[in-house]
Amino acid sequence: MKEIPKDLENSEEQIEEIIGTVGATEETKKETSFLDLTLRPEKFDEYIGQNSIKENLRILLAAAKGRNNPPEHILFYGPPGLGKTTLAHLIAKETGVQMKVTSGPAIEKVGDLASILTNLTPGDLLFIDEIHRLNKAIEEVLYPAMETGQLDIVIGKGPSARTIQLELAPFTLVAATTRIALISAPLRSRFSGGIFRLEFYTNEEIEQIVRRSAKLLNIETSDDAISEIAKRSRYTPRTANYLLKRCRDYAQIHKRPLDKKTVDEALKLIGIDPLGLTHSDIVILKTIIEKFKGGPVGLGTLAASLSEEEATIEEFNEPYLLQLGFIERTARGRMATDAAYKHIDSPAKDRGTLL
Ligand code: ADE
Repeated sequence: MKEIPKDLENSEEQIEEIIGTVGATEETKKETSFLDLTLRPEKFDEYIGQNSIKENLRILLAAAKGRNNPPEHILFYGPPGLGKTTLAHLIAKETGVQMKVTSGPAIEKVGDLASILTNLTPGDLLFIDEIHRLNKAIEEVLYPAMETGQLDIVIGKGPSARTIQLELAPFTLVAATTRIALISAPLRSRFSGGIFRLEFYTNEEIEQIVRRSAKLLNIETSDDAISEIAKRSRYTPRTANYLLKRCRDYAQIHKRPLDKKTVDEALKLIGIDPLGLTHSDIVILKTIIEKFKGGPVGLGTLAASLSEEEATIEEFNEPYLLQLGFIERTARGRMATDAAYKHIDSPAKDRGTLL
């Protein structure tokens, strides 16, 4: 391990807090590792969907291996639950290296990043989740580390301040974000291995994922139950696995087979509608339609009127509503489409433009 100035150094416990299962309680750590062992694909061949990304990664990894270099830095972006972390795990497995996991909000000080980087062993994969939440001053320390493997840190303040340079072990940074627009141009340009956008899965891919998960969890189910779960999964594997498990619970408690009828009842109970919309999606659509006459309404105004965070609406609700074609983003704000009116059964005369 390289020397790091005392005032910048974190204790073992502090490092443990920053790297690893960030902020997890023992319970969630257990659940995560249980999930890791059962549902997370172990090989690229087991990973369903995102075919173009897989193809690109295969070439990138094989070429780096052929040159005996660690793969270049990679950025994944896209809505939550599509498998950004899983891809990072697969890259580590495929290249046979150790993966260290941290996240933007967990790295609070330059010293946190310095500890992480100086503790890497040659070839390690460092995964930074939610990299858009990394603070600016820390981001700037990351640039030379990514580019030339050097860590430039300033110690002390005022006239006695001095810069020291530490040579880092060669590493690959894999980062993930749900908010690509918040990543600065200089940071983006340092992902020399590529910037990959994860797409929503097709319905067929989600069915395959549900079938695979049911098998791994020893859940007996029917084809129509699988297709019903898939249909309500927002084209998102994390949601699909979540719904599958909630349906399994319902079937178990009611001592019923996991068939379509059980799925319908279980998902009704947890408030998932036939297209996979949650209560909050419906409230958003109703607010745009009923309160703002179908829009356009700015995101800030919409968020304020729902007492919700703008980022939550933008990250969790909008991607699927846009994918369904239920809302449109215009320069003047969000608008509900005819399909949205139909889905929530609101008469078109509510629409401002038709009045
Ligand atoms: N579980 C979650 N995401 C998956 C994927 N893309 N392929 C296979 N299993 C998964």
